[in-house]
Amino acid sequence: MKIVSVVGARPNFMKVAPFCRALKAYPEVQHILVHTGQHYDVRMSEQFFKELDIPNPDINLEIGSGTHAEQVGRTMIAFEKVLKAENPDWVVVLGDVNATCACSITAKKEHIKCAHIEAGLRSRDMDMPEEINRLVTDRLSDLLLTPDRLSSANLKAEGVPDEKIKFVGNIMIDTLEREREKAAGLDINEIISENLIDEEIAAKSAKAAKISLKDRGYVAMTMHRPSNVDQRETLVPAMRFFLDEVSKEYPIVWAIHPRAQKMLKEFGLWDEVVANENMILVKPLGYHAMLRLNMGARLFMTDSGGLQEECCVLGTPCLTMRWNTERPITLMENGGASILVGNAVEKIREAYKSQIDATRRPSRPELWDGHTAERIAECIVKGI
Ligand code: UD1
Repeated sequence: MKIVSVVGARPNFMKVAPFCRALKAYPEVQHILVHTGQHYDVRMSEQFFKELDIPNPDINLEIGSGTHAEQVGRTMIAFEKVLKAENPDWVVVLGDVNATCACSITAKKEHIKCAHIEAGLRSRDMDMPEEINRLVTDRLSDLLLTPDRLSSANLKAEGVPDEKIKFVGNIMIDTLEREREKAAGLDINEIISENLIDEEIAAKSAKAAKISLKDRGYVAMTMHRPSNVDQRETLVPAMRFFLDEVSKEYPIVWAIHPRAQKMLKEFGLWDEVVANENMILVKPLGYHAMLRLNMGARLFMTDSGGLQEECCVLGTPCLTMRWNTERPITLMENGGASILVGNAVEKIREAYKSQIDATRRPSRPELWDGHTAERIAECIVKGI
């Protein structure tokens, strides 16, 4: 059997790592790993391959940045050539990034079976590029591997036949369980000093020297979604809250995404953010460093779906800066650690006040047990 798996952007890498490992139990399987090259910076890509022991991609399509149509179009053109040359039995796609959508379409047009890992998630927000990717991929896939029962129910409600849906658990938690001990051994202040962004070091080397964080003594943050960072009307008030209120109480460690950095500069906020003593700007972090940051954070403010899930398992109170989520299983009302706060300051402030002194409440949804990849490999290889 020949399987081609596709990754494109950062959130795919922690999901493919356990799958590559699980396939090793089947020597009869020839596994070809394709990287579309959507994320290409060392810190957004290569670093994860090294840290998580992912085999080097057999093929890199090098599609790089661009508009959605450019990324999807270039990926389809390049991936079609791969499929014609390799003619695999299965194409396996993960998550909801542009590579997921582009490669599922290409596979089906080449009459190749497609399996989707992390199927069935729905935000029902058609303004999210990821939601479009999820809908297209799930509509086309032959095997829909879901992380929770809510996702299976979404697919059933859309008319997907039962035999195509397999509830297997959350593959990202396989990686978390495998790596958490290593992450726990890292020193948070070393992580910060090794990852400060260049401007931070240049602007205030004094600040860098003074940073001395303790567990539960800081707030962690990531923010990268176009809906949060691309418009002045939403980014500026949120930043005022972080700068004028949160950073007065606790240091904020912000692992800043290239898109957020670009928009802060465009809206004239960059210098103030860099100058703030309690805003600690770090580059995109590696897997273990981010896990360690999460383990010690008093609170996480994020718009990332993956971090929402990791906060759930680690129990870190999480303010999810979105109005909806495709991962309702992580919400407090369903036993998780996350509250949806959107991007309105009053809502963020209210949730911040209610959670900043809350204790950790780790929770583990059904089958988030560290063995999802084995179940997936069995489904695909043995056809069950
Ligand atoms: C993508 C995913 C999103 C995921 C996120 C995690 C889609 C539709 N979106 O969004 O689901 O949560 O990754 O990071 O696939 N850039 C770099 N270096 C890189 C990659 C990108 O500087 O290695 C820059 C690009 O030039 C661009 C910006 O970052 O300006 C956004 O990159 P892009 O890949 O288009 O989407 P993300 O916002 O990262």
